Amino acid sequence: MTTTIPCDVTDLRQHRDGKLRIEWAELEMPVLSLISKRFGAEKPLAGLRIAACLHVTSETANLMRALQAGGAEVVLCASNPLSTQDDVAASLVEDYGISVFARKGEDHATYYGHLAAALDSAPHITMDDGADLVSLLHTERTALLPDLLGSTEETTTGVIRLKAMHKDGALRLPVIAVNESETKHLFDNQYGTGQSTIDGILRSTNVLLAGKTVVVVGYGWCGRGIASRADGHGAQVVVVEVNPVRALEALMDGYRVLDMAGAAAIGDVFVTVTGNKHVIRKKHFNAMKDGAIVCNSGHFNVELDLPGLGELARDRRPVRPFVEEYKLLDGRRIYVLGEGRLINLAAAEGHPAAVMDMSFANQALAAELLARSAKTERLQVGVHRIPEDLDREVARLKLESMGIAIEQLTPEQEKYLNSWEEGT
Ligand SMILES: NC(=O)c1ccc[n+]([C@@H]2O[C@H](COP(=O)([O-])OP(=O)(O)OC[C@H]3O[C@@H](n4cnc5c(N)ncnc54)[C@H](O)[C@@H]3O)[C@@H](O)[C@H]2O)c1
Repeated sequence: MTTTIPCDVTDLRQHRDGKLRIEWAELEMPVLSLISKRFGAEKPLAGLRIAACLHVTSETANLMRALQAGGAEVVLCASNPLSTQDDVAASLVEDYGISVFARKGEDHATYYGHLAAALDSAPHITMDDGADLVSLLHTERTALLPDLLGSTEETTTGVIRLKAMHKDGALRLPVIAVNESETKHLFDNQYGTGQSTIDGILRSTNVLLAGKTVVVVGYGWCGRGIASRADGHGAQVVVVEVNPVRALEALMDGYRVLDMAGAAAIGDVFVTVTGNKHVIRKKHFNAMKDGAIVCNSGHFNVELDLPGLGELARDRRPVRPFVEEYKLLDGRRIYVLGEGRLINLAAAEGHPAAVMDMSFANQALAAELLARSAKTERLQVGVHRIPEDLDREVARLKLESMGIAIEQLTPEQEKYLNSWEEGT
């Protein structure tokens, strides 16, 4: 199969399966569909080129279609070497005429080659999930910066990187931190990562979680979702935290709280979701039980110190798709899932479309804000939130699509809430 669209995907012949998948996800994305329809009529992105570095999934495909409907020329590359759905990538090229540079399992050099190819389109707007494009723009591709209206950022780790860049005076463009919207992190990080991480663990191992001790490292938005879903499966959940407020919250939510050394000795299944580095390292691996299962759902593959585990092991072998056995010197076996990369995307299909609907509605609105800024006033360099009224509008549309009506304030209540005179 040949195409004139610039691309690098695994196999264009898979496009029919990808299209079915994209259409299936669309059914659960009513808010994005509404925005897409409006974009089709108003063309707010006309004449703009957008380079997106996101997980290449069926939900992302629907975001790309919405941007295209808005008049943008779109190029997509993967934000993780293992998260690409190859059939979806093929369909975007064949069925929708969108340039895609992504192959599931691509090596490091190919991954960065694909980012470079996306930037070759000389975009006006970039979209990131982990700040890799922005980082490249500020190191190797600085010539592109003057023409950029700005960027958007999907995830916690990316926002942390960008805020650090801005604090150091290194950031040279405005970024809209989509992750900071309530209709993103409250739902995507909590319910999306919660469900899909368990899905990834079950698909790769098929273990019974009931009765097992599941250790969740990091009790942030993602961690609390994973903990509650593991609890729902009948697991005994242990939480490891460094933040005393969040540790206390985990305790009062009903979980056992231990430090990493304590948890390492009793856990059957470990999930890291901290956005931090080497949270499980040599001394913890050394304390684990024979057969312990270890995985990560945080953004980068640095949460588990796998080089350290490699040094402890006398043997390594793949035993199932996405499961690698490390045999330690004393014969104990530790099973690492998905090479320590986001397990929900490596071994499962990522977040369900119903939550990505809201995350990507925020992304589409963020792109529209940046497009508008070209005609009015450019956003200042820095990390911005989506305005609260747009965030609420996404929630309102979501409820409406579900046929759920909510209570409205009476004029008397509105007056009461805005006044200070009335007391006891
Ligand atoms: N798998 C996915 O699809 C997905 C989706 C959304 C976010 N993420 C990623 O998941 C990670 C967490 O996101 P979040 O929104 O929950 O962030 P968050 O900031 O709300 O939570 C992270 C928590 O980890 C804790 N932590 C940091 N270092 C620790 C350590 N050494 N030991 C124990 N706890 C530690 C922090 O105190 C914090 O409470 C980020 O990397 C984010 O980008 C992944």
